Amino acid sequence: MRVLITGGGGFLGHQLAQELLRLGQFRGRALSELILLDRAFGRELAGSGLRRVCGDVARPGWVREAAQGPVDVIFHLASMVSGECEEDFDAALRVNLDGGREVFAAARASGPDTVLVFASSIACYGGLDMSLPMDDFTKHLPQTTYGMTKAMGEMLVNDHSRKGHFDGRSVRLPTVVIRPGRPNAAASSWASGMFREPLNGEDCRLPISVDQPHPMTDDLTVVQSLLACAQLPAEALGVDRALVLPAHRVTPREAMQAVKAVGARLGIRLGRWDLQPDARIAAIVARWPQQVDGARAMALGMPQPMALEAIVERFVRTFGVLAPPSC
Ligand SMILES: NC(=O)c1ccc[n+]([C@@H]2O[C@H](COP(=O)([O-])OP(=O)(O)OC[C@H]3O[C@@H](n4cnc5c(N)ncnc54)[C@H](O)[C@@H]3O)[C@@H](O)[C@H]2O)c1
Repeated sequence: MRVLITGGGGFLGHQLAQELLRLGQFRGRALSELILLDRAFGRELAGSGLRRVCGDVARPGWVREAAQGPVDVIFHLASMVSGECEEDFDAALRVNLDGGREVFAAARASGPDTVLVFASSIACYGGLDMSLPMDDFTKHLPQTTYGMTKAMGEMLVNDHSRKGHFDGRSVRLPTVVIRPGRPNAAASSWASGMFREPLNGEDCRLPISVDQPHPMTDDLTVVQSLLACAQLPAEALGVDRALVLPAHRVTPREAMQAVKAVGARLGIRLGRWDLQPDARIAAIVARWPQQVDGARAMALGMPQPMALEAIVERFVRTFGVLAPPSC
């Protein structure tokens, strides 16, 4: 079993790789090679059959060269994030769209049985009444360049699959919390920051209203969902190969309550939430869904996210916090 992950140095790609190495097998076959592609790799990772290759996913022919022959499963996670795409339309098309086409061409060259899972986003939705739950049957009307590239990626995955080029699937991810490290250029960066910074004893700048709902899930659930999606029989998906994952509808007010509860339980001295509205971020977030309905994904075996306090507690136990315990 040869598995390739684009964006394998990123937040989710790294954890997906860790989990595959831990399992040592996938779809009932021993993992012989795990190939991670990314622009750069920040974190250490070791394991039998692991090969990491640095490069640009949009460079013509590079993904295919790096694969060095047919692969059984491709997870396509490499992407520019939402804030970057909004700032640089041309780069967004190059990396997310042309890069996607390069990955899909590599999957096609690999053969019709190659399973490809594309990490899409709920930013595909937009332009409707965003307070309504969005599901697999909601029209795509993305209102950001990032969401547009993800919607186009889903269409390409569907059509390549219809043509029998490869066996593609798209998983439409809600915002994934809690991302460790520093804030990134995603317009949803505040979603992780409002948990992470106070847990680290730092003050957190909140650019949106405390009552703005947003769909959120956790990294562990997403990794399990990507793996589950790759294992679904093609017949279970039919012609509609994109699944929106289930998510909690979370407001910053609810996030604060969860952080305070876990902080009190674990004796963490928390930083504060500093409300500083940012019109640019608030405008992007207002064009994203407030809630999603992942019933189809769940019926196909994708897990539900952990409870919010459990997500916070796992983050503290997995990634640690910088703040000294209160006493
Ligand atoms: N994390 C979330 O909240 C979230 C939500 C919705 C969708 N997604 C999607 O899930 C996927 C993984 O997300 P993540 O949180 O791990 O993001 P991430 O930014 O941590 O990882 C993406 C990786 O892609 C790499 N990359 C970017 N441009 C590249 C290029 N030209 N060539 C090669 N590599 C390149 C980056 O270096 C990075 O390591 C992405 O496709 C993202 O759009 C994530």
